[in-house]
Order: sequence, then C-alpha cells, then structure tokens
Amino acid sequence: MKNFAVFASGSGSNFQAIVDAVKAGEITANLSLLVCDKPGAYVVQRANQARIPTFVFNPKDYPTKADFEKEIVMLLKDRNIDLIVLAGYMRLIGPTLLKEYEGRIVNIHPSLLPDFPGKDAIGQALAAKAKWSGVTIHYVDEGMDTGPIIVRERVRIEENETRESLQKKIQEKEHKLYPSILQMLLTREDVNHDKKTCAN
Ligand code: GAR
Repeated sequence: MKNFAVFASGSGSNFQAIVDAVKAGEITANLSLLVCDKPGAYVVQRANQARIPTFVFNPKDYPTKADFEKEIVMLLKDRNIDLIVLAGYMRLIGPTLLKEYEGRIVNIHPSLLPDFPGKDAIGQALAAKAKWSGVTIHYVDEGMDTGPIIVRERVRIEENETRESLQKKIQEKEHKLYPSILQMLLTREDVNHDKKTCAN
C-alpha cells in the first residue's frame, strides 16, 4: 500500500473526510502523517483523535522556509511518503520540497481555477458576481494555485447566495471529490504526474 501525508493549516474538514474515507476502506492507502504549520489549529485535534502522527511547527521558529522544509522532507522520507496532499495548507510550497516531490503533490482549491486563486476564493467569486464557482484539484508547482489540473467540478452561485451557503456547498463537494481522486492517484501504479492522463 502507498503512504501519504496531509498538509493542513486550519479546521481540517477535508482532513476529516480523508480520515473517514481511509477508515471506511474507500481510500486503500496509509495516512501516515499530518503536517501543520499552525500550532493550535483544530486539524491537530482531529489527527490526535484519529491517532494519526503529526508534525506541528511554527514557521517563525526557523530562519528560512528551506530550513523547515528540509525537516519535513526528512520526515516524509522516513515514512516513505508517496503523495503529499494539501488540504487547506495556506502556504506556498518552496523549492526544497518541490525538488523532492514534484509531480507527487496535489492541492484542492475552492474555485474553478484559473479563476479566483489565492486566499478567500469564495469571497472573490461572490464579489465578482460570478454565476458559477466550484472545486479544483490540481498538481502543485511553484505558483499560487497553479499547476496541471486533475479535475474541476462546478457549483452554481444563486442570486441570494451568502458566503456561508456557498462555502457549505463547496465543502460538501470537496469532501466527496478529494477522497475519490486520492483513491485513484494512490492505487494506480505510478503516482507521478502524467499529463496525458489528466482530464479537465
Ligand atoms: C478548503 O475549502 C480548501 O479548498 C481551501 O481551504 C479550505 C480548508 O478547509 N484551500 C485553499 O483555499 C487553498 N488555496 P478545511 O480546513 O475545513 O479542510
């Protein structure tokens, strides 16, 4: 079985959906590590409850991004991690991690990329009065929510949509879509990125 790590910074509802999918046998791979850059984030409690090992760090305790990423790479190598899964990890992946894991890092984003990248994608879609938003899962490169797209699913924005109602619809979609895509990526022979197999 393949091993994977989840990186998260916040509440961790996607992390929880992934934990539940592993428990239910819908993801047949080992969730070996949670990496969290926000001590005190609720996702750490979720990991403790599920008995998933954690590496929780404060970036301010390291002189540079390369320093904490070197430590993370060591931990990932120790655990033979095949795939890094970003689930609300609100930090750009730097060259140190990318060099080791390029093509083996995926991210989920609450918009139809390339629309509304970066922070507060839901607020951006509402401010733009968009009729549609959605969820994108993509491979990670050095950019902000760039990188080859694996899948996108649309969510309709209604006339009377609020931030809360749109977030709920998007997250419900995320919680189903991410586990199913992860199962696909983690059970095929090669988790390395192959552009020819990507469908938009
Ligand atoms: C998710 O909606 C995810 O798509 C988004 O953060 C949220 C984390 O929620 N990620 C980004 O905006 C990345 N640019 P969660 O902590 O409840 O899983």
